[in-house]
Amino acid sequence: MSIIKIRNLVKKYHILEKEFSVLDELDMDVGEGEIFSIEGKSGIGKSTLLNILGAMDGFDSGEVQVCGIDIGYLDEKGKESFRAEKIAFIFQHHLLLPDFSALENVSIPLLIRGYSQNKAEKEAISMLEKVGLKDRIHSHPSQLSGGESARVGVARALVAGKKLILADEPTGNLDRENSRNLMSLIQELQKDLKFSLILVTHDMELAALAHKRNQIFQGKLKPAVIPQTV
Ligand SMILES: Nc1ncnc2c1ncn2[C@@H]1O[C@H](COP(=O)(O)OP(=O)(O)OP(=O)(O)O)[C@@H](O)[C@H]1O
Ligand SMILES: [Mg+2]
Repeated sequence: MSIIKIRNLVKKYHILEKEFSVLDELDMDVGEGEIFSIEGKSGIGKSTLLNILGAMDGFDSGEVQVCGIDIGYLDEKGKESFRAEKIAFIFQHHLLLPDFSALENVSIPLLIRGYSQNKAEKEAISMLEKVGLKDRIHSHPSQLSGGESARVGVARALVAGKKLILADEPTGNLDRENSRNLMSLIQELQKDLKFSLILVTHDMELAALAHKRNQIFQGKLKPAVIPQTV
């Protein structure tokens, strides 16, 4: 079963008077339960593509089906419920709410979905345990290390059991050791929870996790060129 199907996607931007196509007749197919990397140099259109997949940004033409929904036809309200019901995001800067504890940050997606406080907390605690933060549930973001904040971000993304996770440079501001820890955590959780993960990254080690490695080149998605080690 496919979770993402894109045909002939075109996304244009205007800079001064000039129009340019960042994405130019791009096709993309992702199956359920796949880790799918999107690599490519800075400014090539990786975040642009991810934002379109998450219905955060519009596009000029083409067909974009995500979780069986044709997102080109959604109005603002439709986009909002599509995001709330189908998609979870993991960001480079985690974007945790600073005035709330780890537990509260992870509970919020469940409260939004209508869980009772009690049930939301139970699920959130169990998710925080899975990411190794059992002892930190009451800490606020300012009291957490970068690696711990990143893990809270992962817990928040996964807690509601969504089947599609969009991650933009999730290890972008972590050191090598914390990146490796986060990578193996994501990999373990993916085996267990079987979500599909779209992984935008510059990090070759992280990209090596992917079942399918791809890069954006000249506005299209192509198989990534993987450097040979000798
Ligand atoms: N709102 C905008 N208006 C005009 N141009 C934009 C806009 N947003 C992005 N761009 C341009 O579109 C191109 C793609 O940007 P995008 O953010 O998708 O790159 P990226 O591959 O994610 O890069 P990085 O690896 O640096 O994050 C860039 O050349 C950028 O300058
Ligand atoms: Mg980007």
